Amino acid sequence: VNHFLEISQLTCSEAMSLIERALWLKQAKTYPQYPHYVLANLFYEASTRTRTSFELAAKKLMLSVLNLDLQFSSEKKGEVIQDTVKTLASMGTQVMVIRHVQEGLPQQLALTVPKGVHVINAGDGMGSHPTQAMLDLMTILERKPNLNDLKIVIVGDVLHSRVANSLQGLCKLLNVGALDFVAPRAWLPTTMDYGTATTSLQEGLRHADVVIALRVQKERLSSSDLPDLDAYVQEYAITPKTMALAKRDAIVMHPGPLNRGIEMDSVVADGPQSCIWEQVKNGVFMRMAIIESLLMHAR
Ligand code: CP
Repeated sequence: VNHFLEISQLTCSEAMSLIERALWLKQAKTYPQYPHYVLANLFYEASTRTRTSFELAAKKLMLSVLNLDLQFSSEKKGEVIQDTVKTLASMGTQVMVIRHVQEGLPQQLALTVPKGVHVINAGDGMGSHPTQAMLDLMTILERKPNLNDLKIVIVGDVLHSRVANSLQGLCKLLNVGALDFVAPRAWLPTTMDYGTATTSLQEGLRHADVVIALRVQKERLSSSDLPDLDAYVQEYAITPKTMALAKRDAIVMHPGPLNRGIEMDSVVADGPQSCIWEQVKNGVFMRMAIIESLLMHAR
């Protein structure tokens, strides 16, 4: 593939090959080297994990990295993002990692970039976050290799979550046994093409192998969508008590950033069932595999 934009562009074997490659890179002592390539991080929304893991991934592969400080870019003087991308491409940047509040923008930019330039979607509004879904499934596969037998439960603000959208697509592609979304009625997805939805945390967690909590995305919620947080915590927070409803060996995950005490109790986030920090670690290797695949299959 020329760009990494959506889970829907992948076949099952392509997704599995990328995950297997990321697992291989995780235990490798040396890495392939791409010293003549440049990766630019263009983050128009806040990020800690995604931006830094792309930087680390690129540096491990010996690419040069440009972290644009967009507060001081010429877009402040009226330049459009299309020209920012063209400018960087003209200077010899081959990989553009783009996070933007506008849904679909990385996909639009991918249609206009010069030949040999690859766009990676690092999160577009409420649309997709495909590299996050890939690292999440990598983390699950490490602990629970038989995806067809698993029940994965995603709890929280599903409606506004690009992570949930991409996870839904990837769980469908990889034929995960069961996928359940749990949320207050106002946050349940309006359409789904894989999995089931419920407002009952108790029902969702029953027989769950993997529990993924989502962040309450205050920045995407209008005041009418914003729930009573105390009521949300009472009913939906992942705590030692609610985790007891899942299987005894269930793992718990969160894409981050984590609002401790809202989506999840710290005792769970830092406890033995938590894979949150492994997700963060795996993000570097998953992004290495994605960058490498784009450079290897350059058009
Ligand atoms: N999961 C995620 O996208 O985290 P950041 O916003 O810190 O990149």
